[in-house]
Amino acid sequence: MARVLVTRRLPEGGLDPLVHAGHTVIQRAEDDRYEPEELVALAPDVDGILCLLTDRIDEPVLRAGAAGRLRVVGTAAVGFDNIDLVVAGAIGIAVCNTPGVLDKTTADLAFLLILASSRLASEAERDLRAGHWGGWGFMDYLARDIHGGVLGLVGYGRIAREVARRAEGFDMEVIHHSRTKTGHPGYVSDLDDLLATADVVSLHVPLTEATRHLIGARELALMKPTAVLVNTARGPVVDEDALVDALESASLFAVGLDVYDGEPEINPRLLAAPRTVLLPHVGSSTTETRTRMAQLAAQGICDVLAGNTPPNLVSA
Ligand code: GLV
Repeated sequence: MARVLVTRRLPEGGLDPLVHAGHTVIQRAEDDRYEPEELVALAPDVDGILCLLTDRIDEPVLRAGAAGRLRVVGTAAVGFDNIDLVVAGAIGIAVCNTPGVLDKTTADLAFLLILASSRLASEAERDLRAGHWGGWGFMDYLARDIHGGVLGLVGYGRIAREVARRAEGFDMEVIHHSRTKTGHPGYVSDLDDLLATADVVSLHVPLTEATRHLIGARELALMKPTAVLVNTARGPVVDEDALVDALESASLFAVGLDVYDGEPEINPRLLAAPRTVLLPHVGSSTTETRTRMAQLAAQGICDVLAGNTPPNLVSA
Protein backbone atom coordinates (compact mmCIF):
# COMPACT_ATOMS: atom_id res chain seq x y z
CA MET A 1 0.00 0.00 0.00
CA ALA A 2 1.04 3.55 -0.59
CA ARG A 3 2.65 6.04 1.77
CA VAL A 4 1.07 9.50 1.99
CA LEU A 5 2.65 12.46 3.76
CA VAL A 6 0.09 14.72 5.43
CA THR A 7 1.81 18.00 6.16
CA ARG A 8 -0.43 19.43 8.91
CA ARG A 9 -3.12 18.36 11.41
CA LEU A 10 -6.56 17.87 9.86
CA PRO A 11 -10.06 17.57 11.37
CA GLU A 12 -11.31 14.27 12.70
CA GLY A 13 -12.37 12.05 9.79
CA GLY A 14 -10.50 14.16 7.25
CA LEU A 15 -8.14 11.33 6.40
CA ASP A 16 -10.83 8.64 6.19
CA PRO A 17 -10.39 8.03 2.43
CA LEU A 18 -6.66 7.31 2.91
CA VAL A 19 -7.25 5.13 5.93
CA HIS A 20 -10.07 3.16 4.27
CA ALA A 21 -7.90 2.58 1.21
CA GLY A 22 -5.29 1.08 3.52
CA HIS A 23 -2.60 3.68 2.82
CA THR A 24 0.04 4.53 5.39
CA VAL A 25 -0.29 8.09 6.65
CA ILE A 26 2.91 9.87 7.59
CA GLN A 27 2.09 12.80 9.81
CA ARG A 28 3.73 14.32 12.81
CA ALA A 29 1.87 14.92 16.03
CA GLU A 30 2.34 18.68 16.09
CA ASP A 31 0.76 21.15 13.66
CA ASP A 32 4.10 22.69 12.66
CA ARG A 33 4.86 23.62 9.09
CA TYR A 34 7.50 21.57 7.31
CA GLU A 35 10.46 23.64 6.18
CA PRO A 36 11.01 23.53 2.39
CA GLU A 37 14.14 21.41 2.79
CA GLU A 38 12.24 18.93 4.97
CA LEU A 39 9.66 18.51 2.21
CA VAL A 40 12.44 17.97 -0.32
CA ALA A 41 13.91 15.29 1.92
CA LEU A 42 10.58 13.52 2.52
CA ALA A 43 9.12 13.73 -0.99
CA PRO A 44 11.00 10.83 -2.64
CA ASP A 45 9.84 8.33 -0.01
CA VAL A 46 6.11 8.95 -0.36
CA ASP A 47 3.60 8.22 -3.11
CA GLY A 48 1.40 11.16 -2.26
CA ILE A 49 1.53 14.45 -0.37
CA LEU A 50 -1.58 15.95 1.20
CA CYS A 51 -0.55 19.56 1.70
CA LEU A 52 -2.13 22.84 2.71
CA LEU A 53 -1.81 26.30 1.22
CA THR A 54 0.94 27.06 3.74
CA ASP A 55 3.26 24.54 2.02
CA ARG A 56 5.24 25.59 -1.01
CA ILE A 57 5.27 22.63 -3.37
CA ASP A 58 7.69 24.03 -5.88
CA GLU A 59 10.25 22.63 -8.28
CA PRO A 60 12.78 21.22 -5.75
CA VAL A 61 10.05 19.29 -3.89
CA LEU A 62 8.44 18.01 -7.08
CA ARG A 63 11.70 16.98 -8.73
CA ALA A 64 12.94 15.27 -5.57
CA GLY A 65 9.61 13.44 -5.37
CA ALA A 66 9.62 12.44 -9.02
CA ALA A 67 13.12 11.00 -8.59
CA GLY A 68 11.56 8.73 -5.98
CA ARG A 69 8.00 7.41 -5.81
CA LEU A 70 5.87 10.58 -5.62
CA ARG A 71 2.84 10.49 -7.95
CA VAL A 72 0.30 12.92 -6.58
CA VAL A 73 -0.08 16.09 -4.54
CA GLY A 74 -3.49 16.92 -3.10
CA THR A 75 -3.98 20.32 -1.55
CA ALA A 76 -6.78 20.83 0.96
CA ALA A 77 -7.64 24.21 -0.55
CA VAL A 78 -9.36 25.49 -3.66
CA GLY A 79 -6.47 27.82 -4.52
CA PHE A 80 -3.28 26.15 -5.74
CA ASP A 81 -0.89 29.05 -6.28
CA ASN A 82 1.46 27.39 -3.76
CA ILE A 83 2.09 24.52 -6.20
CA ASP A 84 4.21 24.75 -9.35
CA LEU A 85 1.70 23.24 -11.74
CA VAL A 86 3.90 23.67 -14.78
CA VAL A 87 6.68 21.56 -13.27
CA ALA A 88 4.21 19.04 -11.85
CA GLY A 89 2.62 18.63 -15.29
CA ALA A 90 5.96 18.37 -17.02
CA ILE A 91 7.21 15.59 -14.76
CA GLY A 92 3.90 13.74 -14.50
CA ILE A 93 2.89 14.43 -10.91
CA ALA A 94 -0.87 14.82 -10.58
CA VAL A 95 -2.28 17.70 -8.53
CA CYS A 96 -5.76 17.91 -7.06
CA ASN A 97 -7.58 20.51 -4.97
CA THR A 98 -10.94 20.98 -3.25
CA PRO A 99 -13.41 22.86 -5.47
CA GLY A 100 -17.09 23.04 -4.63
CA VAL A 101 -17.08 22.06 -0.98
CA LEU A 102 -16.14 25.44 0.46
CA ASP A 103 -18.14 27.84 -1.68
CA LYS A 104 -20.96 28.62 0.74
CA THR A 105 -18.70 28.82 3.78
CA THR A 106 -16.29 31.19 2.06
CA ALA A 107 -19.16 33.25 0.66
CA ASP A 108 -20.56 33.56 4.18
CA LEU A 109 -17.20 34.91 5.33
CA ALA A 110 -17.02 37.33 2.40
CA PHE A 111 -20.44 38.57 3.37
CA LEU A 112 -19.39 38.90 6.98
CA LEU A 113 -16.55 41.14 5.78
CA ILE A 114 -18.91 43.12 3.53
CA LEU A 115 -21.19 43.82 6.48
CA ALA A 116 -18.48 44.33 9.08
CA SER A 117 -16.40 46.70 6.96
CA SER A 118 -19.41 48.69 5.69
CA ARG A 119 -20.63 49.11 9.29
CA LEU A 120 -17.17 49.79 10.79
CA ALA A 121 -17.73 46.88 13.17
CA SER A 122 -14.09 46.24 14.07
CA GLU A 123 -13.32 49.87 14.77
CA ALA A 124 -16.41 50.25 16.95
CA GLU A 125 -15.72 47.06 18.89
CA ARG A 126 -12.07 47.99 19.33
CA ASP A 127 -13.08 51.31 20.90
CA LEU A 128 -15.61 49.67 23.19
CA ARG A 129 -13.12 47.06 24.39
CA ALA A 130 -10.50 49.74 25.00
CA GLY A 131 -12.94 51.74 27.14
CA HIS A 132 -13.11 54.53 24.58
CA TRP A 133 -16.87 54.50 24.16
CA GLY A 134 -18.21 57.59 25.85
CA GLY A 135 -21.88 56.65 25.35
CA TRP A 136 -24.42 56.66 22.56
CA GLY A 137 -23.78 59.38 20.02
CA PHE A 138 -25.97 60.30 17.09
CA MET A 139 -22.94 61.01 14.92
CA ASP A 140 -20.80 58.08 16.05
CA TYR A 141 -19.60 55.35 13.70
CA LEU A 142 -21.54 56.71 10.75
CA ALA A 143 -21.07 53.88 8.31
CA ARG A 144 -22.50 52.87 4.92
CA ASP A 145 -25.68 50.99 4.09
CA ILE A 146 -25.26 47.97 1.90
CA HIS A 147 -28.96 47.61 1.01
CA GLY A 148 -29.74 49.52 -2.14
CA GLY A 149 -26.05 49.49 -3.07
CA VAL A 150 -24.23 47.84 -5.96
CA LEU A 151 -22.05 44.83 -5.27
CA GLY A 152 -19.27 44.38 -7.83
CA LEU A 153 -17.79 40.89 -7.98
CA VAL A 154 -14.35 40.59 -9.55
CA GLY A 155 -14.18 37.01 -10.78
CA TYR A 156 -17.34 34.96 -11.17
CA GLY A 157 -16.56 31.44 -10.05
CA ARG A 158 -18.52 29.34 -7.61
CA ILE A 159 -17.71 31.41 -4.52
CA ALA A 160 -18.56 34.70 -6.23
CA ARG A 161 -21.92 33.30 -7.31
CA GLU A 162 -22.71 32.30 -3.73
CA VAL A 163 -21.84 35.84 -2.61
CA ALA A 164 -24.23 37.13 -5.30
CA ARG A 165 -27.04 34.95 -3.91
CA ARG A 166 -26.50 36.38 -0.44
CA ALA A 167 -26.41 39.94 -1.77
CA GLU A 168 -29.84 39.54 -3.33
CA GLY A 169 -31.24 38.83 0.13
CA PHE A 170 -29.70 42.09 1.27
CA ASP A 171 -31.38 44.09 -1.52
CA MET A 172 -28.19 44.75 -3.41
CA GLU A 173 -27.81 45.02 -7.16
CA VAL A 174 -25.08 42.64 -8.28
CA ILE A 175 -22.69 43.16 -11.18
CA HIS A 176 -19.65 41.06 -12.03
CA HIS A 177 -16.53 41.10 -14.13
CA SER A 178 -14.40 38.28 -15.41
CA ARG A 179 -11.92 38.10 -18.25
CA THR A 180 -14.20 35.93 -20.31
CA LYS A 181 -17.82 36.82 -20.94
CA THR A 182 -20.05 34.90 -18.55
CA GLY A 183 -23.37 35.29 -20.37
CA HIS A 184 -25.01 36.02 -17.00
CA PRO A 185 -27.00 39.17 -16.21
CA GLY A 186 -24.85 41.87 -14.61
CA TYR A 187 -21.71 41.07 -16.62
CA VAL A 188 -19.41 44.08 -17.01
CA SER A 189 -16.67 43.59 -19.57
CA ASP A 190 -14.43 46.41 -18.32
CA LEU A 191 -13.08 46.08 -14.79
CA ASP A 192 -12.65 49.86 -14.58
CA ASP A 193 -16.38 50.34 -15.14
CA LEU A 194 -17.21 47.89 -12.37
CA LEU A 195 -14.82 49.59 -9.95
CA ALA A 196 -16.28 53.01 -10.69
CA THR A 197 -19.87 51.78 -10.25
CA ALA A 198 -19.78 49.46 -7.25
CA ASP A 199 -20.45 50.42 -3.65
CA VAL A 200 -18.88 47.18 -2.51
CA VAL A 201 -16.15 45.40 -4.50
CA SER A 202 -15.49 41.78 -3.56
CA LEU A 203 -12.53 39.90 -5.06
CA HIS A 204 -12.88 36.29 -6.22
CA VAL A 205 -10.04 35.66 -8.66
CA PRO A 206 -7.27 33.08 -8.30
CA LEU A 207 -3.73 34.40 -7.84
CA THR A 208 -1.87 34.24 -11.16
CA GLU A 209 0.67 36.49 -12.83
CA ALA A 210 -2.32 38.23 -14.48
CA THR A 211 -4.08 38.98 -11.18
CA ARG A 212 -1.07 39.98 -9.03
CA HIS A 213 -1.76 43.59 -7.95
CA LEU A 214 -4.89 43.60 -10.09
CA ILE A 215 -6.14 46.20 -7.62
CA GLY A 216 -3.45 48.87 -7.34
CA ALA A 217 -3.35 52.66 -6.92
CA ARG A 218 -4.95 53.30 -10.31
CA GLU A 219 -7.81 50.89 -9.71
CA LEU A 220 -8.40 52.13 -6.15
CA ALA A 221 -8.59 55.69 -7.45
CA LEU A 222 -11.44 54.62 -9.73
CA MET A 223 -13.51 53.44 -6.77
CA LYS A 224 -16.00 55.73 -5.03
CA PRO A 225 -14.71 57.32 -1.79
CA THR A 226 -17.79 55.79 -0.15
CA ALA A 227 -16.96 52.29 -1.42
CA VAL A 228 -15.77 49.23 0.45
CA LEU A 229 -13.27 46.61 -0.78
CA VAL A 230 -13.34 43.00 0.40
CA ASN A 231 -10.70 40.39 -0.37
CA THR A 232 -11.24 36.72 0.44
CA ALA A 233 -9.23 35.52 -2.57
CA ARG A 234 -5.45 35.91 -2.27
CA GLY A 235 -3.52 38.78 -0.68
CA PRO A 236 -1.22 39.66 -3.60
CA VAL A 237 -4.24 40.46 -5.78
CA VAL A 238 -4.23 43.82 -3.96
CA ASP A 239 -1.33 46.25 -3.67
CA GLU A 240 -1.51 46.69 0.10
CA ASP A 241 0.52 49.90 0.25
CA ALA A 242 -1.76 51.52 -2.29
CA LEU A 243 -4.71 50.26 -0.26
CA VAL A 244 -3.40 51.84 2.93
CA ASP A 245 -2.79 55.11 1.04
CA ALA A 246 -6.42 55.05 -0.10
CA LEU A 247 -7.70 54.41 3.43
CA GLU A 248 -5.48 57.07 4.96
CA SER A 249 -6.52 59.68 2.42
CA ALA A 250 -10.17 58.60 2.76
CA SER A 251 -10.44 57.99 -0.97
CA LEU A 252 -11.80 54.56 0.01
CA PHE A 253 -14.31 54.15 2.83
CA ALA A 254 -13.30 50.80 4.32
CA VAL A 255 -11.76 47.42 3.69
CA GLY A 256 -12.38 43.87 4.84
CA LEU A 257 -9.53 41.42 4.34
CA ASP A 258 -9.10 37.72 5.01
CA VAL A 259 -5.91 37.29 2.99
CA TYR A 260 -2.55 39.10 2.87
CA ASP A 261 0.51 39.47 0.73
CA GLY A 262 3.24 37.45 2.47
CA GLU A 263 0.95 36.00 5.15
CA PRO A 264 1.27 35.23 8.00
CA GLU A 265 3.34 38.43 8.12
CA ILE A 266 1.01 41.41 7.95
CA ASN A 267 2.06 44.75 6.50
CA PRO A 268 2.36 46.97 9.63
CA ARG A 269 0.83 49.89 7.73
CA LEU A 270 -2.28 47.79 7.23
CA LEU A 271 -2.50 47.01 10.94
CA ALA A 272 -2.42 50.74 11.70
CA ALA A 273 -4.77 51.81 8.91
CA PRO A 274 -8.25 53.18 9.70
CA ARG A 275 -11.57 51.47 8.87
CA THR A 276 -10.22 47.96 8.41
CA VAL A 277 -11.62 44.56 9.31
CA LEU A 278 -8.76 42.07 9.27
CA LEU A 279 -9.30 38.32 9.68
CA PRO A 280 -6.58 35.64 9.69
CA HIS A 281 -7.43 33.72 6.47
CA VAL A 282 -10.42 31.85 7.89
CA GLY A 283 -12.65 31.87 4.79
CA SER A 284 -13.37 28.15 4.77
CA SER A 285 -12.77 27.56 8.45
CA THR A 286 -15.75 25.69 9.81
CA THR A 287 -15.43 22.15 11.13
CA GLU A 288 -17.86 20.84 8.51
CA THR A 289 -16.16 22.47 5.56
CA ARG A 290 -12.58 21.83 6.62
CA THR A 291 -13.50 18.16 7.12
CA ARG A 292 -15.01 17.98 3.63
CA MET A 293 -11.94 19.69 2.16
CA ALA A 294 -9.55 17.25 3.82
CA GLN A 295 -11.63 14.31 2.64
CA LEU A 296 -11.84 15.59 -0.92
CA ALA A 297 -8.08 16.15 -1.14
CA ALA A 298 -7.49 12.71 0.39
CA GLN A 299 -9.96 11.09 -2.02
CA GLY A 300 -8.22 12.73 -4.98
CA ILE A 301 -4.93 11.21 -3.84
CA CYS A 302 -6.57 7.78 -3.46
CA ASP A 303 -8.07 8.05 -6.95
CA VAL A 304 -4.71 8.85 -8.55
CA LEU A 305 -2.95 6.11 -6.62
CA ALA A 306 -5.65 3.65 -7.78
CA GLY A 307 -4.98 4.68 -11.38
CA ASN A 308 -8.15 6.74 -11.76
CA THR A 309 -8.64 10.38 -12.76
CA PRO A 310 -10.18 12.33 -9.87
CA PRO A 311 -12.81 14.97 -10.69
CA ASN A 312 -10.77 17.51 -8.74
CA LEU A 313 -7.61 17.13 -10.84
CA VAL A 314 -6.02 20.46 -11.76
CA SER A 315 -3.48 21.09 -14.45
CA ALA A 316 -1.43 24.03 -15.69
C1 GLV B 1 -8.36 28.99 0.83
O1 GLV B 1 -7.88 30.07 0.74
C2 GLV B 1 -8.42 28.06 -0.24
O2 GLV B 1 -7.84 28.30 -1.32
O3 GLV B 1 -9.05 27.01 -0.06
